[in-house]
Parts: sequence; C-alpha cells; structure tokens
Amino acid sequence: MPTLPDPAVRRDAAGGRPRGWRLGIIGGGQLARMTALAAYPLGIDVAVLERAEDCPAGPLAADTVVGDYGDVEALARLAAGADVVTVENEFIDAALLAELERRGARLLPTAESMRLVQDKLLQKQALAAAGLAVPRFRAVEARADVIAAAADFGWPLLLKARRNGYDGKGNATVAGPAEVEAAWQALGGRGLYVEEHCPFEKELAVIVTRPRTGDTAAYPVVETVQRDHVCHEVTVPAAVAPAARDAAAGVALRAIEAVGGTGTFGVELFLLPGDRVVVNELAPRVHNSGHYTIEAALCSQFENHVRAVFGLPLGSTSLVAPAAAMVNLLGAGPGSGAARGLEAALAVPGAHLHLYGKSASGRGRKMGHVTALGDTVEDALARARAAAGAIGFGDPR
Ligand SMILES: Nc1ncnc2c1ncn2[C@@H]1O[C@H](COP(=O)(O)OP(=O)(O)OP(=O)(O)O)[C@@H](O)[C@H]1O
Ligand SMILES: [Mg+2]
Repeated sequence: MPTLPDPAVRRDAAGGRPRGWRLGIIGGGQLARMTALAAYPLGIDVAVLERAEDCPAGPLAADTVVGDYGDVEALARLAAGADVVTVENEFIDAALLAELERRGARLLPTAESMRLVQDKLLQKQALAAAGLAVPRFRAVEARADVIAAAADFGWPLLLKARRNGYDGKGNATVAGPAEVEAAWQALGGRGLYVEEHCPFEKELAVIVTRPRTGDTAAYPVVETVQRDHVCHEVTVPAAVAPAARDAAAGVALRAIEAVGGTGTFGVELFLLPGDRVVVNELAPRVHNSGHYTIEAALCSQFENHVRAVFGLPLGSTSLVAPAAAMVNLLGAGPGSGAARGLEAALAVPGAHLHLYGKSASGRGRKMGHVTALGDTVEDALARARAAAGAIGFGDPR
C-alpha cells in the first residue's frame, strides 16, 4: 500500500491553504455523515461519492462526486482527490474495487476483504475455514438442492441471496417443501444459498476496529432487537452470561481476522441455547449496532474507523457510563424528511438525537436515531424510547 503524504505539506486546489488528509467515502448516507462528523476534529476532511448531491453526508463533505458506485470512472474521480478511500456499504462490486487498487488507490478495507464479505456464501466459507461457528449452510443451484439441504438441516430453513441483501430483503424463511417455489421466485435470478434456521435466544453484535498494524480493538457486546428484519433497538452491555459475552467477543475478533479486515466492522451474532454463539454475518463498515458509541464510548466506532484506515493509534472502546441504549427513528410512511416532535424529544433529559438529514421519508426508512446513557440498561432504554417515541417522519399509510 502506498505511503500517505505528509499532511503538513498538502495544499488545497487553489494552491494556498494547507490541508490535511482527505478520506474518500464510497456512499453518502448516514454512515458517511457520522464518519465525517468524526473525521473533521482530527483534521481530516471527507469527500463522498453518491448518486445525488442531496444526500445525508453532502452538507458535510468538502467534495461530493456525483456518480454511480458501479461506474469505475466515478470511483476513480473520488479516489483521485482522496488519500484513503473507504466504503459505507458492502454492495460495491469487489472487481471494481480491485481495479481501483490497481490504479493506485489506497482502499481500506481492501478489495479482497470486500470480495470475501459482500458474498454471504464466500463469507460463511471463510469463517468456517477459520474454525468459527456459523449456522450450517450450503450453496444451492436449483430448487431440489433446497429440499436436499432440508433433509440435513430440517425445516424451516432460510434461503438467502448471496449478494446485495439488506434489512432482510434478500432472505426468505421457508417452512416446508410447499414454500420452496414461492421463495425461489421471490429471490430468483441471482446466486442463492441456504442456511439452517437458528432458534436464537437473542441477537448480539460486536463492533471491532482492526488497525493497519497492531492490536484489534473490540467494543462491548451489545444486544440488538430486529423487527421485520430491521434493527430497532440496541442495548449495552448485553444481558448475557459471562461465558456468552466472552464467546461473542472472541469470535468477533477472529471473524475480522478471517477476512483480513481493516477498519471498523460490525459482527452480527446469534446467541443459541447453552450460551453458544454463532456468527450471522459481518458488515465491512461502521454498523447500526455501534451508533451508541458516539456518546457512550470514549472513542466512537466512526472515529476509530478513521484512525484505523489512516494508520493512527486507536482510541479506547471503553464505555463512559454503566449502560446505554439506542433506538432507531424509522419513517412511518412517505412524506418529507422533516422530523415532527423535535421539542418533545429534546425535552427528555439525556436523550441524544441524531437526524440524518434525508430529504424524504419512507416506511421503515432509517431517518435518525436516539441514544441515552444510564445507570442501567432499563433506565437508558426508557429514556431513549421516550425521546424516539416523540419523533415522527412521514405519513403512515
Ligand atoms: N439462519 C437464521 N436463523 C434465524 N434467523 C435468521 C437467520 N438468518 C437471518 N435471520 C434473521 O433475519 C435478520 C436479517 O438477516 P441477515 O442479517 O442475514 O439479513 P440482512 O438483510 O443482510 O441484514 P441487515 O438487516 O443486517 O441489513 C437477522 O437479524 C435475524 O433476525
Ligand atoms: Mg444482518
């Protein structure tokens, strides 16, 4: 990887003002926005690539390259002005990222890590090869392969798209042979695989930041609650036995190593009966289950990502309070992106509000989040819920 220029000798385009490093982010959504909010205090500015100038990170970016993630020339335009390039989602084709690296971009996570993570089948194979516990899984080419897998895994099982799934949109739960056809048609036309259904007691997650060199840092194990496959609430510390907590933290660290990750990653886990922990999936980027770290950790997942990709020392992942809770603000339906109930939400003591600045609401769309700290998880959650409940976006239909 090429060495970074000395920021002290950088000059802006006009040739005058010295400027520090620039982070290029492929994507301009809320994750890029929160990364930008963490980068600027370190003297690092941000450029983003997004399909429209009007995006959550747009108002914060020193430069917005308007273009498609699938267009290598647009990616190259972003990279040309950036010292390091990173991603805010896992959907950018790894072959394009590899081309970007060939053209000299300093990309982190690397194209090879992205290749392993963005295809859930390759990801599970990499984790299993590293000896990590994952749900039983198998590639499928035809409907008959699903039936054959069920003979081993039992019903129900999950049929999943290998790529481009999010918020459960690439997944189908198949209860029995009669449902295979409908699931196949719903997801059809792309690479699929099947996975055993995990009767989890809880869903856990761990945010991990792996630096370019040195020790990997892990944040505390959190509990996440998904509704309709979308993350609703996150609480920390997770109310689990020490054995489960240690297993979760251990498996998360090893998972990022298994895919050669650099930067902040989210590791989604299932807690099974008997304190057994299996990996659901990795996200090669800052993650919704780590938004609480902005207020609740000494150094946030966003700042640590920036530090990691620039080769700077990582900050502490310790909590600054005994407990914290984060509640997502989801759109009720279509409408403007303006929040209702701001005053009532901010009247809740200790509620930290984050609005993503999206121009339009949609049903289930992530419009913002609220974090609260507390002496107990219950206390933090009650306050985060009170503030989140006061906020509304869009019209329910
Ligand atoms: N094998 C499984 N057994 C039981 N439940 C599962 C399984 N796989 C997924 N789920 C449920 O569906 C949710 C979404 O699945 P997954 O994480 O694969 O989807 P995604 O669309 O990539 O995720 P995200 O919501 O993180 O964008 C999980 O959080 C879990 O609640
Ligand atoms: Mg998931």
